[in-house]
Amino acid sequence: MRMYDIILKKRQGQVLTDEEIKFFIKGLVSGEIPDYQVSALMMAIFFKGMNSEETATLTMEMAHSGDMANLEGLEGIKVDKHSTGGVGDKTTLIIVPIAAACGVTIAKMSGRGLGHTGGTVDKLESIPGFCTEYNLKDFINIVKKSGLAVIGQSGNLCPADKKLYALRDVTATVDNISLIASSIMSKKIAAGCDRILLDVKVGSGAFMKTKEDAVSLAKEMVSIGNLVGRKTVALITDMSVPLGNNIGNNLEVIEAVNVLKGEGPEDLTEVCIELAARMVFLGEKAETVEDATVKVKEAIKNGSALNKLKDMVKAQGGDASYVENPDKFQKAKYSVEIKAEEEGFITEMDAEKIGIAACEAGAGREKKEDSIDYSAGIILNKKIPAAVSKGNIIATIFASDENKLYKAAETFRNAIKISGKAIKALPHILDTIE
Ligand code: URA
Repeated sequence: MRMYDIILKKRQGQVLTDEEIKFFIKGLVSGEIPDYQVSALMMAIFFKGMNSEETATLTMEMAHSGDMANLEGLEGIKVDKHSTGGVGDKTTLIIVPIAAACGVTIAKMSGRGLGHTGGTVDKLESIPGFCTEYNLKDFINIVKKSGLAVIGQSGNLCPADKKLYALRDVTATVDNISLIASSIMSKKIAAGCDRILLDVKVGSGAFMKTKEDAVSLAKEMVSIGNLVGRKTVALITDMSVPLGNNIGNNLEVIEAVNVLKGEGPEDLTEVCIELAARMVFLGEKAETVEDATVKVKEAIKNGSALNKLKDMVKAQGGDASYVENPDKFQKAKYSVEIKAEEEGFITEMDAEKIGIAACEAGAGREKKEDSIDYSAGIILNKKIPAAVSKGNIIATIFASDENKLYKAAETFRNAIKISGKAIKALPHILDTIE
């Protein structure tokens, strides 16, 4: 078998056989297939697509390309959750402790920020002392003791995805449904959980820009999960504007604590209650989604969810006093207020540009090796469809470097439009795929 023939076959729009996909993944991981041939195949798949069978085979070959986590030592149904990525998306920090407070076992592996989107591991590491690097044995011991843990993806899990993602990122081949579905589902399958909840984001700040594409991606992933016996459910949620008001690592931890105290913004709270309820239902800790919703609201009201977050922070070496008193987080040295230049209504708030502005302020990385400024980010004071008068503060940008601050401010200003006529904000939850 030759890689050249596989690339040509896909370029001509033909269906690849299981053997060809196996050959490709084996050669990718061993390094026998050079990056230029891998990239050429990614581009051919980008233009010609893959059918559901090819996508499922690719997913399983990627999942088995390295270690498969064995979580059988943990009691109960282990439920995992994955977001396709967005701006201000701190839902994991909120729903994991809520679901754990409702009795669901959570052994979760999360990622770092990617492009303009933030990552859970970076957010958690903004809590002083919080450790996200554990071997599987220690990870399982923490979950046994506290009922929950969130760590980074461990060493040799899905090496095929690590290589493919790095190449897709620099060859403009990320936003393809088969490639995203196989990338996400291979990691979830290798991470060993029994059931999977997917949060598929749609809008300017997401990889899927239209609801139609988001639904296709969700259906593809749900069918792969169910095919391999991991019950999978997907919610389609809005990412045309950032989720919640805070963007940036420690700013997002602060907002997550607010939601767990019942004092969070309405959009983020609504999405988190629905996601957490789905996790509780998937974990069989409630008879119906409605019962699960009641439990979730109660866990916020009685403080048990917030206590679970503190337990998790302590168990993973973090200083839980930052959760008790988020004012302790270090503040950025510089800030600038972005004010409305005219009267009207906010009609556009491009989430991708706002994510880029947060990265420019220092909240994300341009290159893999870059370090993150945990205090950098943005707090939104107004969102679509708010009315504004000239001079009203729309947002405040925070950074530790003045040049970065002004660059971020310029990008932010280009993300906002104010018009004379108000528009209707989109619903936060658009669909459910089961
Ligand atoms: N998140 C992933 O893990 N992989 C993708 O391809 C896109 C988003």
